[in-house]
Amino acid sequence: MKKQVRVKNKDIQAAIFDLIDGGGKRLRPAYLLLFAGFTELDDNDAFALAASIELLHTATLIHDDVVDKADTRRGVATLSNKYNPEIAVYAGDYLFVAVFKLLSEHTFEVSNLTKHLGSIERLLGGELGQLDNHFDLEQNLDDYIANISGKTGELFALSACAAPVVTKNNKLANLANKIGMNIGIAFQIMDDYLDYASDANTLGKPVLEDVRQGIYSAPILYALKENRSEVEHLLKNESYDELFDWIQNSNALIETKKLAQFYTNNALTLIDKLPHHENKTVIAEITAKLLERAL
Ligand code: IPE
Ligand code: IPE
Ligand code: MG
Ligand code: MG
Ligand code: MG
Repeated sequence: MKKQVRVKNKDIQAAIFDLIDGGGKRLRPAYLLLFAGFTELDDNDAFALAASIELLHTATLIHDDVVDKADTRRGVATLSNKYNPEIAVYAGDYLFVAVFKLLSEHTFEVSNLTKHLGSIERLLGGELGQLDNHFDLEQNLDDYIANISGKTGELFALSACAAPVVTKNNKLANLANKIGMNIGIAFQIMDDYLDYASDANTLGKPVLEDVRQGIYSAPILYALKENRSEVEHLLKNESYDELFDWIQNSNALIETKKLAQFYTNNALTLIDKLPHHENKTVIAEITAKLLERAL
């Protein structure tokens, strides 16, 4: 990943390296490599694809933190916070370029680039859908699922199906795509759950920032279902501390977890259909464990 990032501006280069060194769970490249195990893809190409998917994820995080006005990520100051939003926008742009440079250095066909571009297009569609629903008290869970399928599901779907796509294993690519999508949806539901069930120190990023920006994720949507007038009142008055307490004492978090469980179960049912391979159990175990994650 670092080999791909060559930015003349040393500050930007250092800030990107800090973010990469900050770690992160590396889930998308992990899934990519686990699914590559079912194919004939050689290691060099598999690692290039894995690095490119994590670079793409990193680029979306940098831009997400500008849009979400977040101060920390992976426990360190975001680029906007350390420098300014302008630098962060350019740093994200450089990373998008790095992704396609890396892909073009390998002998992947145009169909693979088309696949990447389609995923990014739908990811942006999800983020824009979320913007459309800003402060919208009438949105429902279907709108929420549609938005998170794009903003997070797509990258997990791409991670799972990239190696099968490159090796032209269409049947496996279709199955992997569906598995990745369900994993990604469950993952984002848990991310939104943790916004109300964890704290900034543990997560290394701010909590409760989304609701302040008008993003009503699963916990809020369930809270509205449970008692529309009270929750609407708290939201309209921007009483976020009270809202947080209200949610703790409601069924909203239990319902949110159930929703994540539903998509995880979908994923596990589909994972069961994968061909016999030692990676199959690992994929199932990681996917089930993501429901218990604390960060
Ligand atoms: C954060 O992704 C963005 C979401 C889709 C919720 P991760 O939780 O995978 O972030 P890192 O890479 O582990 O930091
Ligand atoms: C992130 O969603 C999705 C993308 C980065 C495209 P969030 O905004 O919930 O992610 P975090 O919580 O900041 O990691
Ligand atoms: Mg966001
Ligand atoms: Mg965010
Ligand atoms: Mg989040």
